[in-house]
Amino acid sequence: MKIFIDTADIDEIRDAAAMGLVDGVTTNPSLIAKTGRTLEECIRDICEIVDGPISAEVLATDAEGIVTEGRKLAAIHENIVVKVPLIAEGLKAVQVFAAEGIKTNVTLCFSPTQALFAAKAGATYVSPFIGRIDDISGEGMELIEQIVTIYSNYGFQTEVLAASIRHPVHVVQAALLGAHAATIPHKIIHQLLKHPLTDAGLARFLEDAKKTPAG
Ligand code: E4P
Repeated sequence: MKIFIDTADIDEIRDAAAMGLVDGVTTNPSLIAKTGRTLEECIRDICEIVDGPISAEVLATDAEGIVTEGRKLAAIHENIVVKVPLIAEGLKAVQVFAAEGIKTNVTLCFSPTQALFAAKAGATYVSPFIGRIDDISGEGMELIEQIVTIYSNYGFQTEVLAASIRHPVHVVQAALLGAHAATIPHKIIHQLLKHPLTDAGLARFLEDAKKTPAG
């Protein structure tokens, strides 16, 4: 499974990339706003650090505006993936991008039929928001399962990018279900890495090593 980091924070991206854990990056307008910088500034810096798909989201909500904005974003760097909302106007724009060879991440997916339509429009990635479904007492993981099955039934090339990940178990479940990728906040990447037995084992080894005569 590909691991994307879900942040626009450069320090977080550097940290995870240094561990070899960043196949790609996703941003959204809320994450960009947290940095206090412009989307273009953030994206340019991220492109310097990560050699992989970097999602940059459009703000327009009409097809023409999405296409204009998306073309500008795609021109910034060859790794840019234009993030488009899963609405009718978004799908119209995705078809144009697909014909032009511009990669897309269709975002805010909350149902299997939305995901089916995104694939039919030619999306490169679809982003089902697992956590936000769980937040309203739904079963986000069921959506992942449904999309993976539908895409596999018909051989769609669109990749399932599990998004809105809230905790490590989401990542495990998405991987077991065959999601192509998961976009994970920096804090959760560290939670996934950490194990108390690793820490205890290392502490014991270091303590025991002190008993070894210096060589
Ligand atoms: C995905 O691309 C989004 O940026 C993100 O996963 C949304 O997560 P949230 O529901 O925690 O805001």
